[in-house]
Amino acid sequence: MKFHVLTLFPEMLKSALSAGLVGQGLKKNLLQVETHQPREAAEDAHRSVDDRPFGGGDGMIMMADVLARVLEGIRAQGPTRVIYLSPQGPRLDDRKVRELATLPSLTLVCGRYGGIDQRALNQLIDEELSIGDYVLSGGEPAALVVIDSVARMLPGVLGHEESAHRDSFAQGLLEHPNFTRPRQWRGQSVPEALLSGHHGRIQEWKLRLSQLVTLKKRPELLAGLAPAERANLRAFWREMSPEERQACGLQGLQEEDFQRFLGTR
Ligand code: ADE
Repeated sequence: MKFHVLTLFPEMLKSALSAGLVGQGLKKNLLQVETHQPREAAEDAHRSVDDRPFGGGDGMIMMADVLARVLEGIRAQGPTRVIYLSPQGPRLDDRKVRELATLPSLTLVCGRYGGIDQRALNQLIDEELSIGDYVLSGGEPAALVVIDSVARMLPGVLGHEESAHRDSFAQGLLEHPNFTRPRQWRGQSVPEALLSGHHGRIQEWKLRLSQLVTLKKRPELLAGLAPAERANLRAFWREMSPEERQACGLQGLQEEDFQRFLGTR
């Protein structure tokens, strides 16, 4: 998959993209990232890419014509989805990430603090996307979030082909807790089911713990769970020892939470 990034600060992306899974994916050519410097498309002697807003106001506004020239150059390479990173867009989520990962090419437009001329937005941008309800000084950190989250969905980028399917959110659930050696640490033990070597039991434990973690942290994600499943989840939780609940980070989850969850309170 090809990512184009229109940015005044390509150096903000370079080191962040060189490390970790994305860096390895780039080396293996599973994805490509090309940055485009709008200053190179500027036409005046000062290489201006932005100007003061008409009517006054804070910040500088990126000029429509400069953006158009850069984006026309990118589109000349082939079809691409052009996304403007902005706090005004719909919020990025797992579903959107998976949708973007099916595209052959994505173009991420990073504006600076003042934003871009509305007419460029009207004519050149396919969609806006936000990474959350707060304002960044520019779109670059948001572009990194999009590239990272989309790249890990691409075939071959994650070590285990399966793990993107097991991620938090993939099944509409948060991930279960994970443990590694030692089996005992500061009085807390690894849950017995995980040591049982019994595949079915381990899978069941992971699913139930995913549901319990979700109930504790993001209960609204469980809105679709059937009443019988809710009762099963409570039964599973009641079987857990206080020590195991504690080791799994479930302290704080109470009988009353289940009463609310089961609609009996
Ligand atoms: N640019 C500035 N703030 C942003 C945000 N919250 N999400 C995406 N792009 C942005």
